[in-house]
Amino acid sequence: MHELAERAWFLVSRLLGRVLRSGRYSTVRITRQGTELLVSKQRRFYAPLLVWMGGPLLRIMDTGVRILPQRDWAARESHLYRTIHGSSIRAEADGTLTLPCLTGKTLATILETEMEEPVRRKAIELAIGALAEFHARGFTHGDAMAENVTIDLESAKAHWFDFETMHESGRPIAWRRADDVRALLATCLVRTPAARFADTIDLILDRYRDEDVARHLAARFASALQRPLPLHLGQAALSFRSFMEVDRALSGRNHSIAGRA
Ligand SMILES: Nc1ncnc2c1ncn2[C@@H]1O[C@H](COP(=O)(O)OP(=O)(O)OP(=O)(O)O)[C@@H](O)[C@H]1O
Ligand SMILES: [Mg+2]
Repeated sequence: MHELAERAWFLVSRLLGRVLRSGRYSTVRITRQGTELLVSKQRRFYAPLLVWMGGPLLRIMDTGVRILPQRDWAARESHLYRTIHGSSIRAEADGTLTLPCLTGKTLATILETEMEEPVRRKAIELAIGALAEFHARGFTHGDAMAENVTIDLESAKAHWFDFETMHESGRPIAWRRADDVRALLATCLVRTPAARFADTIDLILDRYRDEDVARHLAARFASALQRPLPLHLGQAALSFRSFMEVDRALSGRNHSIAGRA
C-alpha cells in the first residue's frame, strides 16, 4: 500500500515537474563586443507574474528555495560574479543583465555528448569541486543543476552561474548544501547509464566529503512521499526505479560510514 502511494505521488510529481520546467522566464543571448564574448540575459515581460505566482507554490511544496524578483536577482548576480568570478556585470535600464561569457561547455552538454568515461568523471569532479569551494565561501546555489555550471576541460576549471534562485535563509546550512549536491547528483544521473550510478554517487560524495550533508542528502531519497518532489523531478526526471537505486546506494554508504565510526 505504501509503495503504491509512493509510485502514485511519483507519477504525479513527474507530470507536475514537467509543467514547472516548461515555464521559461528569461532569454539568453551571446553577443560580441570587440574581442570579448558577452552574455545578455533578460527576463520576459510575464516573468514578474511567474515569480509572484511561483512564491506560494514553492512554499506549499516546501522546496526551501525562492525565485528572486528582478532587483534582488540583479544584486545577487552582481555580488556573486564579483566574488566568485572576479568580474563585473552590467545592468541595463530595461533590466537586461550583461555577463562575461564563461569558458567551456555546461556539464549537462558534456555528459550528453562525451562517451569517454575518464573525461566524464573529470567534468563531474570539477563541478563538485567548484561547488564545494562555493559552499566553503559561505554561499549556496539554489539551482545547482548540471545545466548551470560550465566546465573548461583545458584549464581544468568549473564555473557556476544562473543565480536566479536562492535557498531560504532559515534552512540549516547543511540542508542547503545537501540540496545543491542533490540537484547536481540527480542532473548527472539522468545523463548516466544505470550501471554507473553507484560509481557516480561515490565520485560525488567522495569528492564533497561531508557526513552531515550526506545524511541530509540520503533523507531526500529515503521516500518518494515528499512535498518538493515535483520540483526535484522537474530538475531531473529520474525514473521511480532510479530514485530507489539512489536511495539504496546512499543509505548503503551512510551505514558503512556509521559502522566504521
Ligand atoms: N555567463 C555565461 N557564460 C557562458 N554561457 C552562459 C552564461 N550564462 C548563461 N549561459 C548559457 O546560457 C544558458 C542559459 O542560461 P541560464 O542558465 O542563466 O538561464 P536559464 O536556465 O534559461 O534560466 P532559468 O532556468 O532561470 O529560466 C546556459 O545553459 C549556458 O549555456
Ligand atoms: Mg539555467
